[in-house]
Amino acid sequence: MPLVTTKAMFEKSMKEKFAIGAFNVNNMELVQGIVEAAAEQNSPVILQASSSAIKYAGIDYLMAMVKVAAEEHPNIPIAIHLDHGPDFETCKMCVDNGFTSVMFDGSKYDFEENVRLTKEVVDYAHSKGVVVEAELGKLAGIEDDVNVSASDAMYTDPSQAEEFVKRTGCDSLAIAIGTSHGAYKFKGEAKLRFDILKQIKERIPNTPIVLHGASTVIPELVNMCNQYGGNIPGAKGVPDEMLHEASISGVSKINVDTDLRLAMTGAIRKVFAEDPSAFDPRKYLKPARDLIKETVTHKMRDVFGSANKA
Ligand code: G3H
Ligand code: 13P
Ligand code: ZN
Repeated sequence: MPLVTTKAMFEKSMKEKFAIGAFNVNNMELVQGIVEAAAEQNSPVILQASSSAIKYAGIDYLMAMVKVAAEEHPNIPIAIHLDHGPDFETCKMCVDNGFTSVMFDGSKYDFEENVRLTKEVVDYAHSKGVVVEAELGKLAGIEDDVNVSASDAMYTDPSQAEEFVKRTGCDSLAIAIGTSHGAYKFKGEAKLRFDILKQIKERIPNTPIVLHGASTVIPELVNMCNQYGGNIPGAKGVPDEMLHEASISGVSKINVDTDLRLAMTGAIRKVFAEDPSAFDPRKYLKPARDLIKETVTHKMRDVFGSANKA
């Protein structure tokens, strides 16, 4: 199957109440681990790259890897998405290079400017058959270069969300209900504002909702990193139960990057700790790829409910 947009998979997710994992990629092992899990689980999947990931890998390398993944796994729908597009030019570059979906992240602008800039991206992307994710509200923590302090975190306003979607024509909307990027999401108890999600869904029932900053920060993976020489104390993410609740409550896309970073780092640290003489990259990257696959499998099968929904 050629790379697809997220349109059909989101329609199915809203009808059948499950979420699709969107996993950040920047190298071959990530692409392979994620797509192998999706193929085994018969799950739709979104591969996504941030602008810094594109700078790291190069857009041609990234697209080539993703295209091979789609060719090798013709039975599952795979979308390639720009994560946190910072401006029109970056979104246009991705559209012009074969991305099937782009995010324009205007959350750092005021409402009117966010509407104006998002609409520009929507008009261009739609003219090329590409779908657009937009963001309204602010996540706590660090988003790419933007540092938003927790006290500035602004939940998405449901009535603004309705107006925003109408005026921009965006295809999906990322909302802020208490998640944040990175490994330190909560100081005390994890808490998400499911009441706000419900109000948003009531106002825009046909718009797929996206949850950023949604890694579980899987304790076993944090422990693995720390056990083998890492120092990541006090890390905390969104518990699986909350992500499952989100998946059956109208969230269509759940973004995961931190858990993949932890899996890759933990597996590599383990090899080096157990065998300091190792220096063949295949020796430490294969276990990393295997652990990425296991991590993604768990999310698709046990948490998001996307297994067997391809
Ligand atoms: O939300 C951001 C993603 O985790 C990507 O992060 O800009 O370091 O690639 P990055
Ligand atoms: P995490 O940092 O929780 O993995 O979130 C990733 C994300 O939202 C990518 O856009
Ligand atoms: Zn994000």
